[in-house]
Amino acid sequence: MSAKLWGGRFEKPTAPSMEAFSSSFPFDVRLFTWDVAGSIAHARMLDRQGIIAREDARRLVGGLARVYAEGPPPPSTAWEDVHSFVEQRLQELVGEAAGRLHTARSRNDQVALDLRLFTRAAVCEQVDRVLQVQETLVALAEVHAESVMPGYTHLQRAQPVVLGHHLLAYCEQFQRDLERLQGVHTRADVLPLGSGALAGVPYPLDRVYVAELLGFGQLSRNSLDAVSDRDFVVEHLAALALAAVHLSRLAEEVVLWSSAEFGFLELDDAYATGSSIMPQKKNPDVAELVRGKSGRVIGSLVALLAMLKGLPLAYNRDLQEDKEPYFDAVDTVAMCLEVLNAALATADVRTERLAAAAGGSFATATDLADYLVRKGLPFRQAHGAIGALVRWCTQERRGLEQLGLDELRRFSPLFESDAVGLSPARSVADRDLPGGTAPNQVRRAVASARERLETATAWLAAQRNTLPTVERLAALPWPDE
Ligand code: ARG
Repeated sequence: MSAKLWGGRFEKPTAPSMEAFSSSFPFDVRLFTWDVAGSIAHARMLDRQGIIAREDARRLVGGLARVYAEGPPPPSTAWEDVHSFVEQRLQELVGEAAGRLHTARSRNDQVALDLRLFTRAAVCEQVDRVLQVQETLVALAEVHAESVMPGYTHLQRAQPVVLGHHLLAYCEQFQRDLERLQGVHTRADVLPLGSGALAGVPYPLDRVYVAELLGFGQLSRNSLDAVSDRDFVVEHLAALALAAVHLSRLAEEVVLWSSAEFGFLELDDAYATGSSIMPQKKNPDVAELVRGKSGRVIGSLVALLAMLKGLPLAYNRDLQEDKEPYFDAVDTVAMCLEVLNAALATADVRTERLAAAAGGSFATATDLADYLVRKGLPFRQAHGAIGALVRWCTQERRGLEQLGLDELRRFSPLFESDAVGLSPARSVADRDLPGGTAPNQVRRAVASARERLETATAWLAAQRNTLPTVERLAALPWPDE
């Protein structure tokens, strides 16, 4: 077991079971890079403020760069946490100077810092992946701006839409997810360092300088809040849970559409799986797993809320329990975005099946009612007339598109020849309003979605640029040299 950062007050060693129980190193080692980056920034600021000697600052920064270059050891409960590991390794490399790094700092503001840096980086990665899914959807929407299919309510064929319109509906959901992630970034972009354990620190720190070095937009305004706030994690998990639910809904459609009953879609072999017993099977496991994994992400959100609800100010060790659910949710959503994106991009869309389904089930009944309304009939009466027509067609096993004028006229004398053969293509073309499914509108929606993607891509580049790197922080020149 490694020495404790806090051993001085204790007579007895920690029990092995307590060591294992208490250690967060196996999972918070994931914060290693951010811990080193934050430590270099802190050491540079201590030097600049004359709180530690230049000699010691040089040893600290050089040593931390070496700790970073060596990389972290395999996960083990031999270290209490990543902060202890970095400091202990530094001590082995540079000796006594390592003991000065923790001046004016606590693991409480340190872990808050590391987690906020992690969040900023994770949000960037996720925005990137959401953008890729949106790009796939927009590209498919452009190709399928005229591919008619049934739109559904109650999972019953309702009115024709084009596939592009259907896919852009998901693009809108992901756009809101993306904007929520940007909001999370704003709330995470706050420097907690300088809060100490809870009460602030009695040294003349330059917090603005540390914020500049680490690319933070703001300083925390209250030390008690700064060390105990995990709202940004909850918000991130909430944004991820909702994104996972959106992915799950899309996945559910992939499952349905891959069935023989729908037959709208065939997944590429690279994204499908088979059966160990039934040789004919080609299963949409990719979509089922996305649907299933959304439950884990929802669970992580609930775990964080439950962990926080009873905590008095300020830091409590319960907060250590934030990391596993958080990291799991971040990884799970990243994988789901990646594989579902690839599965969609490579799937074969069966447009002939879509068109057949759009034509074959009274999906244009509302259009016939609207036809009668344009001829002057009140909508309720038109609804009744077409209802009777559909009932007759069902008995006679006829489709609406096959009816002649004389047959239509049995249900209303207002029908004329232009009502014959009213097709799904005409039905969608008639819905030519902003937000509607007319191919015209879908092409416009594609163009405006692309503009939003460009804006978000620029945002992403700017935020990525603010993320610190250990290499850059270690290589900065020293003041007055
Ligand atoms: N490992 C702790 C956590 O993840 C950070 C260190 C604070 N520990 C402490 N005993 N005050 O929250």
